[in-house]
Amino acid sequence: MAIVDPMSSLHSPGRGRDRWQDTASAAGLLADDGGVAVTIFAEMSAFAARTGAINLGQGFPDVDGPEYVKQAAIRAIEEGRNQYAPGDGVPELRRAVADHQKRHYGLDVDPDTEVLVTTGATEALTASVLALTRPGDEVLTLEPFYDSHAAAIGMSGATHVTAPLVPGPDGFRLDVAALRAAASPRLRMIVLNSPHNPTGAVLTRDELAAVAAVAQERDAIVVTDEVYEHLTFGAEHIPIATLPGMAERTLTVSSSGKTFSFTGWKIGWLHGPADLVTAVRTVKQFLTYTSGAPFQPAIAQALADDDTPRALAATLTERRDLLCAGLEAAGFTVNRPAGTYFVMADASNLLGRLGLRDGVELCRRLPELAGVVAIPAAAFCRAGSPTAKALASHVRFTFIKRDEVLREAATRLAGLGVPLS
Ligand SMILES: Cc1ncc(COP(=O)(O)O)c(C=O)c1O
Repeated sequence: MAIVDPMSSLHSPGRGRDRWQDTASAAGLLADDGGVAVTIFAEMSAFAARTGAINLGQGFPDVDGPEYVKQAAIRAIEEGRNQYAPGDGVPELRRAVADHQKRHYGLDVDPDTEVLVTTGATEALTASVLALTRPGDEVLTLEPFYDSHAAAIGMSGATHVTAPLVPGPDGFRLDVAALRAAASPRLRMIVLNSPHNPTGAVLTRDELAAVAAVAQERDAIVVTDEVYEHLTFGAEHIPIATLPGMAERTLTVSSSGKTFSFTGWKIGWLHGPADLVTAVRTVKQFLTYTSGAPFQPAIAQALADDDTPRALAATLTERRDLLCAGLEAAGFTVNRPAGTYFVMADASNLLGRLGLRDGVELCRRLPELAGVVAIPAAAFCRAGSPTAKALASHVRFTFIKRDEVLREAATRLAGLGVPLS
């Protein structure tokens, strides 16, 4: 990862670390010399842009969401909805979130006191961690984990503990014994993510029950990142808030970016008990106050539409199979995802022949070797952790690209499988 700026002038000797350094360190971006690296996502996307490689690294669609949603946003701009939206979010979007949760999961949510619209799921997650944890608390995530979860914990000064997802014949599964062992009396929060990025695992009812039992035993809050809630392939997505006794200790986070293919609009939300939502709102209002005024009514309309996400999930099933077949033909061992738009592929069989040590080296060389960009699993693990070691040869590819792009990527990757002469 490129070190961009030592920033040593910001750091007086003996001062200790500032929060940005804790944040960078938690996300694996702080170098020994005090410099900060760009994220692997930024590095790899820049690499793709520079070399013309196909970017299967960062997860964003190459086709926008529905035209009628775009038109709704354009109309909102023309109608003058261009000033600050209410801090909680526009009423029609809060109502649409409550209706969506009732319709899909039977959850009763009060749109006036139990919903908060945020600047993407990212802000909902970070504001929740900042609002409800402090130094000395422990926050548990799955490992591998989405990078912003670790960064938010670093920002708050809490201690990050993890429970591994382990690859096997049924996909990546939660190590429940490790989860129980990791949950000390100092556990304050569990940041869950299902469907899970980067593994594509959709947690089963039994796994969720194990998480719920730990949360209840330790009196911990659960913040659950469900941005891929509609992008599943046959597996049932179960919000942990629907388990007995969990609604009162759970903040459920989601976002329009993945469901409706408008990742750049950054309209997200959370819901949960009014006291927890009030705590998060208190922090959120001084982070951004509000955002995306004309996009909020457009997403309110979209949230009433169950056909668009259903159609997306159907085409994603085909795209998953297309990419998985290409990866297998190229020599990867694929762990077929049950949700999200990512697949984890084990490059063990390729690394030796290519003279490469691990997934990090492979991802650095992949643009030149095959004209494709991917992200190493190590980017989603704590440096040197047992999970980082176990997944050292794994890399993540996204399949949220058009069929022809995936076909071209598969053709290019097939070259990797040809024995070197
Ligand atoms: C698990 C997970 N959570 C949150 C986000 C970010 O969501 P948003 O763009 O709504 O902030 C992503 C984006 O990749 C993600 O994969």
